[in-house]
Amino acid sequence: MLYKAVILIGGPQKGTRFRPLSLEFPKPLFPVAGFPIIHHHIEACSKVPDLLEILVIGFYQPSEALNRFLTSSQRESNINIRYLQEYTSLGTAGGLYHFRDQILSGQPDGFFVFNGDLCCKFPLAEMLEFHNQRTNGQHFTLLATEAPKSQSLNYGCLVKDPETHEVLHYVEKPQTFVSSIINCGLYLFTPEIFEHISTVFKENQAEIFNGDSFSSNRDTIRLEQDIFSPLAGTGKLFVYNCEDLMWSQIKSAGSAIYANRLYLGLYHDTHPERLAKNDENGPHIVGDVFIHATARVDATATLGPNVTIGAGVIIGPGVRVRESIILEGASLQDHCCILHSIVGWNSVVGAWSRVEGTPKGPNPNDKFAKMDSDNLFDDHGKLTPSITILGSNVSIPAEVIILNAIILPDKEIRGTFKNQILL
Ligand code: GTP
Repeated sequence: MLYKAVILIGGPQKGTRFRPLSLEFPKPLFPVAGFPIIHHHIEACSKVPDLLEILVIGFYQPSEALNRFLTSSQRESNINIRYLQEYTSLGTAGGLYHFRDQILSGQPDGFFVFNGDLCCKFPLAEMLEFHNQRTNGQHFTLLATEAPKSQSLNYGCLVKDPETHEVLHYVEKPQTFVSSIINCGLYLFTPEIFEHISTVFKENQAEIFNGDSFSSNRDTIRLEQDIFSPLAGTGKLFVYNCEDLMWSQIKSAGSAIYANRLYLGLYHDTHPERLAKNDENGPHIVGDVFIHATARVDATATLGPNVTIGAGVIIGPGVRVRESIILEGASLQDHCCILHSIVGWNSVVGAWSRVEGTPKGPNPNDKFAKMDSDNLFDDHGKLTPSITILGSNVSIPAEVIILNAIILPDKEIRGTFKNQILL
């Protein structure tokens, strides 16, 4: 059997909750646990036997960063990887439909579709096995997991037949409780999916020509609302339910810190060589830490748990970092302290300064709890306490405190700064 994989990465207008980190850099390339978010998808795909190619679909303009990433991923994974650009946001199903000829070229028997903002222990082999157990030919499989009742409302919820695992009912972000089984944003389709998308496409076009709709998003077709809801109960859509799956969405910067923790934890099984170890000449390592080979870390610094240090970062004596991501080219000067924060590309934190955010994570007492991706502001327009984010090229002087703050790129801070956004 031959398969392909499609990764949906959205475009510049998406990922708004990830600002300011997505202002200058496409969110799918943001490094989590030392590698761009979609590198983890590609790595999972490279373990699927007979994968014909990976298609990355989005509406970002091709950039040097994206091209460089795709070329190096192709080299490392030894799989053909192509970027296909939508002319506008066509929706999660519209993009697939637009590029259906490319997806079907080479005649794959099926293809995986990944949401680009997933953090997951991608169970692709298990999904394939589940999918191929059903012998009725053309059917589709979606990956699901369990969420607490209250949080399920933030996701696509589905009801399944306990025996056959057929999806009987699907509602995207329901108003009231439907089910605690939620859509993870990873699917295995057969080519027949295009017949279902085509029906919706033709209905939309007919509406335009009948003059019924002047809606600006008439090109948009969404997998969740437009395809899965009507497919439920027709014997075509099945769910591979992985109750205790390691899974999160990466919507906000806070959820990137959480995803960083999850992927670092996963490295114990998948890539133990990526985790820093304590040795006589190196810094003190606590728990899971990734240090890029080109970073220079003083032996008296203490890092961890759940810390990622990017390429070319310089960390001075006595520095303490925990639950944080330090991006490429940043410099942490002597004895500064970074907690629950993201330090942007080429930013500098002065000596003895403290950069601190509010710890965020799912309820540790509920094994199904998910990471909430809050908006930056609450209903009253107040900044929600979250991790601290320093945009790129930010300069923090010595001996100040930056607490629960978001600093936009290229700012030079003069003093202590708390619970604010610096625009
Ligand atoms: P929100 O909670 O409102 O963000 O919705 P969601 O979690 O259901 O996410 P959404 O459906 O917006 O996006 C799911 C994934 O598909 C993300 O990785 C997006 O970047 C990607 N995506 C969304 N819309 C498009 C689109 O029009 N084209 C492409 N290629 N990808 C898209």
